[in-house]
This record gives sequence, structure tokens and C-alpha cells, in this order.
Amino acid sequence: MAPSIYNIFILTCSLIVLMSKCPEALEDRQAPRKFPEGFLFGAATSSYQVEGGWNANGKVESVWDYYIHKNPETIKDFSNGDVAADSYNQYKRDVEMIRELGLDFYRFSISWPRLLPTSFPDKINEAGVQYYNNLIDELLKYNIQPMVTLFHWDLPQKLQEMGGWVNPHIVDWFTDYVRVVFDNFGDRVKYWITINEPMSICHYAYGEALVAPAVHSPGIAEYICSKNLLLAHAKAFHLYDKVYRPTQNGNISITIHSFWDEPETVDDIQIANDSIQFVLGHYAHPIFTKTGGFPKVMIDRIAAKSHEQGFPRSRLPELSSEEIEMIRGSSDFFGLNHYTSRIVRKNQETIYHVPSYFDDTGAFDYQPDDWIAEASDMFKVTPWGFYKILMWIKAEYDNPPIIVTENGFSSRGGLQDDDRVDFFKSYLNAMLDAISDGANVVGYTAWSLMDNFEWINGYTERFGLYEVNYESSVRTRTPRKSAFLYKNIVRSRALNLEYEPDTSLMTIDEGH
Ligand code: BGC
Repeated sequence: MAPSIYNIFILTCSLIVLMSKCPEALEDRQAPRKFPEGFLFGAATSSYQVEGGWNANGKVESVWDYYIHKNPETIKDFSNGDVAADSYNQYKRDVEMIRELGLDFYRFSISWPRLLPTSFPDKINEAGVQYYNNLIDELLKYNIQPMVTLFHWDLPQKLQEMGGWVNPHIVDWFTDYVRVVFDNFGDRVKYWITINEPMSICHYAYGEALVAPAVHSPGIAEYICSKNLLLAHAKAFHLYDKVYRPTQNGNISITIHSFWDEPETVDDIQIANDSIQFVLGHYAHPIFTKTGGFPKVMIDRIAAKSHEQGFPRSRLPELSSEEIEMIRGSSDFFGLNHYTSRIVRKNQETIYHVPSYFDDTGAFDYQPDDWIAEASDMFKVTPWGFYKILMWIKAEYDNPPIIVTENGFSSRGGLQDDDRVDFFKSYLNAMLDAISDGANVVGYTAWSLMDNFEWINGYTERFGLYEVNYESSVRTRTPRKSAFLYKNIVRSRALNLEYEPDTSLMTIDEGH
């Protein structure tokens, strides 16, 4: 493609000096801008974050139940997901909200410990099956497609006691579990996501011990986890592809998270690219490239460092040629979760634990203080990075169909969420820029439909289009200003940057 003025502008944006000016400039495209024909809009949640009912009707403990009950002080406000938004009881209201917004699909996850009380398919919890049947049927009654995540971090605690994601048997355990899911719900579900954000599982939970099950094994368990997880994903994909797809006709993939890593200077372009390979490529390269396997930069660097550090073999486990083959191509679309960007430069000093993933990357990242955010230290608003990561995926993986499976903004609460309104306008605008420059983005999912349990930040950070009142026994949900904006975007299938939401009354439109 010949470089357009816009591309030149984007390149200019790469210069850190101009960074603060770029977001506004990118928004200056004329409005309203239409989304492509057939584009899908949705919103997402996950089981532990909204369901509650942590021990209701046969559900057993997940790693999150266990970890928080044992270590309440690890959560910022000492809260937990025991009741959360009570979606276990309030699911009809959830579907009503989705109808109010006019969404095409709802992304939610199934809780393995709610479905399989022994973790294995020898016993199936009928109350769990009933709950998900009710939710799916309620969605379909109003023509809303369920998009089901099979694993969004709430592993049965019993499996953790056997090593969880670092035990290679998890590949079979996961396959046995997903078979039960396909058998019970596959007749009605057309979109499946095997695993949400492998990096958050392996790195944060089995490397840095920041989240449940909090295993501290930097640079070792996290790589064993990543191999097992990719194999589990691929096995689930092939099971669906061979056994269920012929009659159920759905799509299945994985959801990978990525930052955009912006080089600090021109000398850091290579290291910033390597850093994206370590975050996104770690899981996407094995699935979405023609060659498959882990990215070369990871294989080489971790092998060299392991050798220097006196390990008899690379800490990054090898994938056999059969395994590479099995993982390669195991996707129907690219599921991307994206929130924010970082500035990256070469890491010159030994500031990280050795060995560790951080040390292996050879990169140092940060977010400048003048990048804005509200409730969070981390989720800074950088729409230009959304454009860039979409274009990076397009170039690196031969333009796969992308469904943005999460994107959103964390506030401290309140219905007048102007910052979130600005966030959605600027990120959707950047996404439309990427689409007009050829990225094959086919769907977008707002995180989140409603406020929910934000992991170690408890309820101190709010991501919802709908505010949840945690003081009320029914966890009353009220639309925020951003919900009115999103509804207008979905209804008009266009983004109008000038649009000021009328927040007087939320209703359900004809047809929903
Ligand atoms: C996760 C969500 C989480 C969101 C905001 C994503 O990494 O999939 O569960 O709530 O980010 O932190």
C-alpha cells in the first residue's frame, strides 16, 4: 500500500515528542463514520467477576474463591466475588440491559467449578447446566448471540492442588471439560473462546504470583504453563472442529491480550517489537503464523539466557513438530483484548529478578505521567496504540478476521462518566481508522456490560456501561452516560464524535 498522508502522520506520531498531541489529532476525522456491513457489537463479563453464588447449588471452589477467602488482604478493598453482581440470580436483568443497548452478542464465561463439582465429567452439576441454559435461552429469545468463554481464570481449586496449568494433564482435563460444555450448550452457541488472556494466567498467576493461584516461579512455571495452555487450546479447537462443528456450525478461537509497545526512540524500535512478541506473539505466533511455534526471538533469547544462568536446557519448553502442527491454525478469528500502551526501551541494567520473564524480554516499559487515566494506575488512554496494535496484527498474521473481545475504561464510579464516553469515542475512532487502512476487524466488545469484581482491585475500579449498586440486595443496575452513547453507536451502526447522549430514559427498541 502506498504511504498516505495519514500513514505519514501515524509515523510522525511514533515520535515520543509528539505523543501527547496525537490522540486529539487522530480524532479529527469527519463524523459520523459508518461501521462495515455486518459488523458485530457486544459487551462482556466473566463468571467470577459477576455471577456470585460462589457455593450455590453444588458449585465448588475455584482458585479465586480459595485464594481470596484465605488471603482477603490481597484484594485492595478486602472484597471478594462471593456475591459480586449476583448475575447468578439477576441474569434476566442482564439480558434486559443487553436488549436496551441493542447488542448483537453477549460475551460471558462458564465457570468450570459450577459445572463439574469434581473437576471431571464423572459428575455434572445439573443446577449449573440449568443456569447456563437459562442464560443462553434468554439471550436467544431476543436474538442475541451468546459468545462463550470456556475459561476466564476460575480454575477448580482441586485441579490447582495437582499443579493446575503447570501439570501437563491439564490438556486432557480441559478437553474433558469443554466436551461437556459443547455437549450441553453447543446446539445454541455459535461463538466460542477457549481461554481468556493466556499471558494473564501464565505470567501473573504462575510467574509473578500477583493473582490467584499466586504461584511464584518467574521465568520457569510461567513458560511451562504457556506450553500446556496452548496445547489445551488447540486440543479443544480440534475437538470442536472435528466432532461438533459439522452439526453445530460455530466459530472457535482464543482471546489474547496485548498492549501496544511504543519505542522510546528510533533506537528502540527493535526492542519494542520484541516486547510485543513476548506479550502477544508468545501465544499468537504459534497459532496465527505459517511457521507456528514460539517466536524466534523468545526461543533464542530464553535459550541463551538459560545457558548463561546454568540451566541444562532452555526454560522455555520445546514444542515438538507434532505439537507445532496441532497448534498452528487452531483459530477461526483473532480474539484481541486491548486497553492501553506502554513506552519501551532497552533494559540496560539488571533490575529484574533473574531468571524471569521480565529479564528475558530485555525490555523496560513505562507509561508517562501525563498519559491520562481515572481509577487505575495502568489503564491509560492511548487510542493511537489501539490503531497500531490492530495494524501490527494485520501485518504480522496476514490480516486475520479480528474480534476485539475486550476494550474499556476504568472509573471510580458515578453515572456521569464523561471520561468513559470520551474513551469509547476515541478508541472506536482509532479502530475505524485501522479498518479503513485494511485491518479486518469484524466485531467489537465493550468491557464491561456492568461493574464487576475487578480482581485484585476489588470494587475500587468500575468498568461498567451499567453501574451496579453493591449496597442493594438485588444489585440494582443503572445505565451510565456511556451506555447511552454505546446504544446510539449500535443503533446507527456509526460513530458520531459530536453526539451528546440524551440520558433521560433507557428503553428497549423495537426488535429487541
Ligand atoms: C480481563 C478482565 C478484566 C479486564 C480489566 C482483562 O484483562 O480479561 O477480566 O476485568 O482486563 O482489568
